[in-house]
This record gives sequence, structure tokens and C-alpha cells, in this order.
Amino acid sequence: METRILGTDDRRITEAGEILASGGLVAFPTETVYGLGADAYNADAAARIYLAKGRPSDNPLIVHISEISEIDALAEDISDTARELISAFMPGPFTIILKKNRNIPDAVTAGMDTVAIRCPAHPVARRLIKASGVPVAAPSANLSGKPSPTTAAHVIADMTGRIDAIIDGGACDVGVESTIVSCAGEHPVLLRPGGVTFDEICEIAPDAILDKNVLNSIGEGEQPLCPGMKYKHYSPDAEVTVVEGGLLAVKAKIDELLYENRDRVCGVLTMSDNAYDSAILLHGGDSNREYAKNLFSSLREFDRLGAEVVFAEFEARDGYALAVRNRLYKAAAQKVIRV
Ligand code: TXA
Ligand code: MG
Repeated sequence: METRILGTDDRRITEAGEILASGGLVAFPTETVYGLGADAYNADAAARIYLAKGRPSDNPLIVHISEISEIDALAEDISDTARELISAFMPGPFTIILKKNRNIPDAVTAGMDTVAIRCPAHPVARRLIKASGVPVAAPSANLSGKPSPTTAAHVIADMTGRIDAIIDGGACDVGVESTIVSCAGEHPVLLRPGGVTFDEICEIAPDAILDKNVLNSIGEGEQPLCPGMKYKHYSPDAEVTVVEGGLLAVKAKIDELLYENRDRVCGVLTMSDNAYDSAILLHGGDSNREYAKNLFSSLREFDRLGAEVVFAEFEARDGYALAVRNRLYKAAAQKVIRV
């Protein structure tokens, strides 16, 4: 299949909308990461997403809308708290899980009786969804298991030949996927931390709780509320270890690890101006927010540069700490050294 690379002028967005409406697959930018879209009312199109990504079919997709008012056509039993969260955080890097109604095919929700809904803030994403005339089911546009794409180049690397078109809308601003909150049960539950922080959620919904799998790995045979959590994620080819704590102690530990691994190609992802000899250095950012924005692209860049081992400096500094930790720990398959 030929994959077209499209710009963001009105003619191209209209064309991309037509591809979606006729059952095709289009990757597009959002403020979090690039998504891989298909018509959410078309079960065959949704099935093509799983094929293109190599995604396990029991992992449901997020349905994207261009106007908040469209939620009522997709979900039912929407509580007052859910409505407050929606009006506080949509459009934005926020996904809500609600009881689904029968408009959504099972292929999109992997047979669950709930549906994940997101209204992105990115103008290109909103224009595309509007042009398609349908809600757009879209996971992140990476091959399953790889870091989520935050530039069109990442999508081109993973998806060329597998999908109809890629809209190049530049780099994503948030850099990690949306915060997911389930409002389908008794209490709102934060299933995946992201651009909207847990504190911000609690200001609106003080009874909100953190799902226990946000920072821990899933045990053997355990069924997480968020099916995607049980899969291997964000895995670069390099073996990643997180070194977490005060940045002076982190520096001493990483120096030691670099020495132990001196016969391998090492990389260090920094949160400081610490310098390391004989390692590929990439700067994630001084704040956790900036680090989140650069995390996935840095992991891909280490692979491109041939790093075999990566040590990631990490210190919790702001509301993005939870989102960064969640992604870093997964990229490191929970290999975390606290100093
Ligand atoms: O920022 C984002 O959310 C990006 C952009 C493209 O919008 N999308 C994204 O989609 O990250 P994806 O498919 O990579 O991650 C969606 C996660 C998965 O872990 C999935 O298991 C979970 O949402 N999910 C989807 N529907 C669900 C449901 N009904 N109940 C529980 N978890 C659900
Ligand atoms: Mg994903």
C-alpha cells in the first residue's frame, strides 16, 4: 500500500477526511502523540488499525470527537462528576471512560461495555475529525510495543506501507498520551497519568483514586481495568534502566553503571547538566513537563544512534512526574534504581 504524506491545508484535510469516511486509515497529530485514525462506526476499518499496528485485539481504542456535545451520541449514564470532568478538561489531553451505547461496534471497544472518549485540543486533529463526519477511533500511531510517535517522522518510520496517509502537523506539545479517567464505576479512577495531572482531577472530583497499576507492573494472570496496561510498552531496542533520586547521587550511580558497562554502547538521558564521559547524551529537559515532551523521541533517537544500554536520570519535580514515571518504568520494564 502506498502511504501518502499530507500537509495541513484545507484541501489535504478534506481529502484525509474522505479517506477516513471511506474506511481508510490516516495518522494525524494531536497535542499528546500522533494517532492512527479510522471511522469508529466502521468495524472493518477498526480491524485494520489492529492489523497495521500489530496490536492485540483485546486492547480497546479511544474514540476521538471534534465537539464535546458528540459524547451523548456515544455514551450513556453520564454522571454529574463525569460531566464536570468533561467540561474542565475537554478539549485537551484527557480521555474519559463511560458506559457505551450501542452505536460503537465491539471491534472498537474490544467487546467491553465501556468506551474511551477524547476530544483533542489540536486544531489539525479537530479539523480532520470534522472533515470525516464521523467519530474517529485512534490509538497512538506506533507499531505495538514501540514508543508512541511525537513527530510525523516517527509515524513514517513505523507505518509506511501499512496505512493510507500521514498528516504532518509538526511535533506534539505534551509528548505523552492523554490522562485516562474511568467514570464507569462508583469512583472516578485514574488509569493512565498524562497531560492533566492527578491533582487537577482531584480538584474537580475529590473522590478520584489512582489505579494501583499506574506505577506497578501487572502480576501474572491479573486483569487490569485498562487492558493496554498489561502489554509491553514503549520498548526501545536499547535496555533502559531508570536511576531515580537527587541528581548528585544519580550522577554518581550512573558513572558507576557506565564503568560496569564500558564494553557496550551506552546512552544517558539527562534531567540536569550532569556530564558523562563516553556515553551518548540526550537532554530530556529540566522540568518533568519538558522531559515528558522529549521522552519518546529520545528513546527512538537512542535506538537510531545504536545505544545498547540507556540510563535515564529522573527526579520528581512537578505534576508531570507521575506521567513520566509511568512511561519510564514501562520503557525500563520496571528496572529502577533508587538512590
Ligand atoms: O493521547 C492519547 O490518548 C493518544 C492520542 C492518539 O489520542 N491515544 C492513545 O491511544 O494513547 P492508545 O490506544 O495507545 O491507548 C489507549 C489506552 C489503552 O491502554 C487501552 O487499553 C485503554 O486506553 N482503553 C481504551 N478503551 C478503554 C476502555 N473502555 N476501558 C479501559 N481502558 C480503555
Ligand atoms: Mg499506545
